[in-house]
Amino acid sequence: MSDYIWKKDSTAEVDERVMRFLAGQDVVLDRELLTFDIRASQAHARGLARIDVLTPDQADAMVKSLDRLQEAFASGRFVLDERFEDGHSAIESWLIEELGEIGGRIHAGRSRNDQVAVALRLYMKDRLDHLAGLCALVAGTCLARAEAEAGLPLPGHTHLQQAMPSSLGLWWAGHAEAFIDNLALAREIGQWLDASPLGTASGFGVNLPLDRDGVAEELGFPRLVINPQYAQNARGKIELRALDALSAATADVRRICWDLSLFASQEFGFVKVPAAYCTGSSIMPNKHNPDAVELLRALHATIVGARAELETVLSLPSGYHRDLQDTKPPLLRAFGRGLAGLSLVPGLLEGLEWDNQRMRAAVAPELHATDRANELVGQGHPFRTAYRMAAAELDEFAGRDPEASLAARVSPGACASLQLDRLQRRLEALR
Ligand code: ARG
Repeated sequence: MSDYIWKKDSTAEVDERVMRFLAGQDVVLDRELLTFDIRASQAHARGLARIDVLTPDQADAMVKSLDRLQEAFASGRFVLDERFEDGHSAIESWLIEELGEIGGRIHAGRSRNDQVAVALRLYMKDRLDHLAGLCALVAGTCLARAEAEAGLPLPGHTHLQQAMPSSLGLWWAGHAEAFIDNLALAREIGQWLDASPLGTASGFGVNLPLDRDGVAEELGFPRLVINPQYAQNARGKIELRALDALSAATADVRRICWDLSLFASQEFGFVKVPAAYCTGSSIMPNKHNPDAVELLRALHATIVGARAELETVLSLPSGYHRDLQDTKPPLLRAFGRGLAGLSLVPGLLEGLEWDNQRMRAAVAPELHATDRANELVGQGHPFRTAYRMAAAELDEFAGRDPEASLAARVSPGACASLQLDRLQRRLEALR
């Protein structure tokens, strides 16, 4: 272990067992944050030069040294491992090793508390952007297939019981709208947490006239977390909201996958899941199992578990507490697994092969009863009377076409009026 950055002449011997427990997985988790920490450190160095705490040359040397660290980290020449207490210490150690006494100047006006807070906000902005991009892709795929397969009949279910004739177009457009909403949420939450805590130090500010706004601007934050105490109290709170955005998407993936696992069963036989998303059975030679659909359905559980873990860690008074370190594992685990899963969804959806004849044949004649009731309403009957009249005719609908039922379903959003252009416009506006 390189020397602890907090080591003083008076520091007693550290107990390595205790230190290992404190650092825990931190150094491994910080690998995901290091790039953001480096960028924030560069902005901080430039900010210090603007208030003459560093000379322009010193700041320049630091920025260049940090560029080299980023390169070494990206190429694997620098490994963030147990030699360091955490990513923050690794950055300072690197600077001191490369620049000597100049490197020891980087920590003026900051603490690891605001350092980790800013790295986490940059990380969350990045992952929410990625999430938004994936939601847009899923929505785009659903919209394209809704357009192409708009008129194909499918029995509509409520209570998992056949209800009314529906269409593949309506099914696809429904999932498209869900992912447009999820995209909007990812963007909104991304904006909500888009504020820089850097320069709040340990939670009380510092006696230097830091150029916090300039540093925030350089890092792409449109505003500051103004209050130093709140910069710490917001830790975990914003992580929870970031996970909300992720969980909205994974909950909708769960629903799509539930539909698909039913529709792909032999009993329904509506859809074939692409082979690349299936596995075989180790014992039953006949099996093609839609495992990817099932594990994508399970994805939401990871996010819900992470949220619960975060909520539990957050029972704290104001200010920094080392407990806050434990907000990192659930956040990173949830975004890691969540985005990896979501990135498989567009390919899965593109590869689905529907059995149109089987879907059409599954639309039983009595599913036309509601259409019939509304036809009678069109002829002037009160709905309740029409409902009873249609109920008495249940075995008279055999000659009806599902296509005609879909064509007549003209209420906005319904099968004959999916309004895909409106959905498309909303998607474009959010992209
Ligand atoms: N690993 C720590 C965390 O995530 C970094 C901040 C350490 N601050 C401290 N005062 N010990 O919270």
